[in-house]
Amino acid sequence: MLDKVKELIGEVAAFNAKTKEDIETFRIKFLSKKGLLNDLFTEFKNVAPAERKEFGQALNTLKNAAQDKVNLFKDALENTTEQKGSYGDLTRPSEPIELGSRHPISIVRNKIIDVFSRIGFTVSEGPEIEDDWHNFTALNLPAYHPARDMQDTFFIETNPDILLRTHTSSVQVRYMENHKPPIRTISPGRVFRNEDISARSHCIFHQVEGLYIDTDVSFADLKQTLLYFTKEMFGKSKIRLRPSYFPFTEPSAEVDIYWGLETETDYKITKGTGWLEIMGCGMVDPNVLKNASIDPDVYTGYAFGMGIERIAMLLYQIPDIRMFYENDVRFLEQFKSVI
Ligand code: PHE
Repeated sequence: MLDKVKELIGEVAAFNAKTKEDIETFRIKFLSKKGLLNDLFTEFKNVAPAERKEFGQALNTLKNAAQDKVNLFKDALENTTEQKGSYGDLTRPSEPIELGSRHPISIVRNKIIDVFSRIGFTVSEGPEIEDDWHNFTALNLPAYHPARDMQDTFFIETNPDILLRTHTSSVQVRYMENHKPPIRTISPGRVFRNEDISARSHCIFHQVEGLYIDTDVSFADLKQTLLYFTKEMFGKSKIRLRPSYFPFTEPSAEVDIYWGLETETDYKITKGTGWLEIMGCGMVDPNVLKNASIDPDVYTGYAFGMGIERIAMLLYQIPDIRMFYENDVRFLEQFKSVI
């Protein structure tokens, strides 16, 4: 008897159904009222008491195995017929696909590039690890020039000639070395300054700097370009230029835009004045042109530079610069609708 049950367990294990009829035949053979299992359970009372335990266990194993097989093939065959036979309900909405989003820094960077490329500026890039010449000396900042302190620098410990660029003006030096005027280029990129991290400043941030060199480039050209930019970028049409100092430009200016004083936030971000500083600019210093072998008697040019984070903070009312670098998805997901 026990051998018979063991044999059936083997048969169940080896069973393989190809069609629904196969399973039905199998089910009738083992599990129906007149099936083998019922017969065996009826015979259970004839088993000698000493063997009952083992026989009972074997019967249960057989029953469970048979039931499992029926369930398994039923599921499998039902699913395949559905796949083979039809495409399901084609009118059902599909699984939603999660949309990614661009980082706000990329969004603003692309916007700036877009605005300037419409008036003929190309995009140029350069290395983040720079030498002293391209970051400072060529830009009219010789060694020991006090203005070097304006930008606290990260130097490479073993070589004081190598540093992390403090602005992307370094890219413009490289561009001037490799291109003849007329030059019209913007340089977006990541820059590094040894500054304390706070809500308003970070030791790593992004800039876009612009350079235009040709014959007869004047301060009026610079002003008009900046006005065009602020109109396109912010929808604001009033700017002012305040005299300032940069070693690589002469004269130099700080650009403010009139943001307005309509809301409470306007009061807060403009400190009640309505004006916001957004970038530095000026006419390229003749020494800088000379350093790049461009004749300052023939050519003049203007340059400007702005921080991308600052502009993104203004456009999207982001209160803390650190939010850009934390990769908190709750922050990043808010930019899904912008491209
Ligand atoms: N390079 C300057 C800075 O990083 C910005 C600037 C660029 C100013 C060009 C004037 C002209 O602060």
